[in-house]
Amino acid sequence: MAEDAVLGFLEKNEEILDSGKFSEEKGISHDEMVNAIKSLNGFGFVIAQDIKRERWVLTEEGKIYATAGSPEVQLFLAITPEGITQEELQKKLDPAIFKVGWPQAMKNKWVEKGKSNVSRKVQNVDDTVKDLLMQIQNGEAVDPKDIDGLKRRKLIAQQSWKGYSVRKGPKYAPKRIKEATDLTRENLHSGDWKNLKEYNFSAKGQPVEGKEYNFSAKGQPVEGGHLHPLLKVRRQVQMIFLQMGFEEMPTNNYVESSFWNFDALFQPQQHPARDSHDTFFLKEPSTTRELPEDYVELVKKVHESGGYGSRGYGYDWKRDEANKNLLRTHTTAVSSRMLYKLAQNKPFAPKKYYSIDRVFRNEAVDRTHLAEFHQIEGLVCDRGLSLGDLIGVLHDFFARLGMSKLRFKPAYNPYTEPSMEIFSYHEGFKKWVEVGNSGMFRPEMLLPMGLPEDVRVIAWGLSLERPTMILYGIDNIRELFGHKVDLGLIKKNPICRLGLN
Ligand code: PHE
Repeated sequence: MAEDAVLGFLEKNEEILDSGKFSEEKGISHDEMVNAIKSLNGFGFVIAQDIKRERWVLTEEGKIYATAGSPEVQLFLAITPEGITQEELQKKLDPAIFKVGWPQAMKNKWVEKGKSNVSRKVQNVDDTVKDLLMQIQNGEAVDPKDIDGLKRRKLIAQQSWKGYSVRKGPKYAPKRIKEATDLTRENLHSGDWKNLKEYNFSAKGQPVEGKEYNFSAKGQPVEGGHLHPLLKVRRQVQMIFLQMGFEEMPTNNYVESSFWNFDALFQPQQHPARDSHDTFFLKEPSTTRELPEDYVELVKKVHESGGYGSRGYGYDWKRDEANKNLLRTHTTAVSSRMLYKLAQNKPFAPKKYYSIDRVFRNEAVDRTHLAEFHQIEGLVCDRGLSLGDLIGVLHDFFARLGMSKLRFKPAYNPYTEPSMEIFSYHEGFKKWVEVGNSGMFRPEMLLPMGLPEDVRVIAWGLSLERPTMILYGIDNIRELFGHKVDLGLIKKNPICRLGLN
């Protein structure tokens, strides 16, 4: 063992002059020797002093030439004494060898180029480069002038070597007894507890001298769980909703029927979003088991021929299409279930609902799109609400997220009228960025559910990823979510204060 070798040697000798030579003599790797010396030095058994040496070693290229010969000599030898065309010469040599060897051989005046041939200019040559490289490889001394040349050709590189000279330290002992940190059953049985350095027991059985504490030891890093940025921002958004008096909707079903995801939302069955190019449909089970039949009838009717002052879409509504299971494409599917449920409670009572959960879209993944992401959704359901109420609630909600400058742009959703895209001015980006979508749910959606005629629902939705990326300065969504996420980022990221401006 390296430690015993060092302590043993110092028992009879003044000093280990060079840890490199010493480890060679002992047949122990220098790394192992260095570790032992550092540890012994730390505990005062020895005093170690740095030795630094610079030496030249061959680069990968240098190593090749040390065995195969320098390119210029290889090139020289490839030229037959009677001369050869350049094409032939190039065919005979590796392109890299030709490229390096030709200018060198020309510089050495070993070869010349005639009209049609290249030929030798001297009868024979010495491979001094190869000889020098071999000398360096064997640790032999080489003229500094030659070193310079090889260095310029990047055939050798300097390597610094670190080792130690070692003398006895203040706590030197010929053998190191490990300081015991634990007293085991085996120690007691065998009686060797008497020899354990730190357990010299007094008559009463109390340790007289404990192992010294190392107050500057770094200690184990605390490796607890770490919250993903999305979870931190979700928490903050959740707190905002709760402070505004919203209740959470149950979002614990990724699988939804087309009925609740689309039909109940007055989204026609031929709408492009209902195509498999946009939506993930389930193979197994491919259809839903039950739907509220009376309500389904009303939804069918409103799609086909309208009612409640609407003309409907005027197409043949198919139950099969509504039965298809899918991965919900928006959390508005949950809102539609909840509003239907609310409509069944008589008498009507107003509600404020929110949800934050995952949704799925059959989307090509790029730096701003994922096939699964998270939506934040809020809705207020009460008698006589107006667009002004929606705008007011949005100002309140987004101001709490740190976005107080808002603008609205008319938009279209099959289930809301009017609909508005929400933009917020980003002080950092110096531009208006889209932060959400909103609207008032259509009567074609609410009245078949059985909500009273004067009840209006204002609602809005946004992604959780967007504000999180802005807060954490992440510009590629794949660095935030999915298999490419760097766990280091999760462990180190701070809690960001909301305030996107
Ligand atoms: N469901 C919409 C979306 O997927 C968001 C939205 C929710 C719009 C509620 C209006 C009302 O983007």
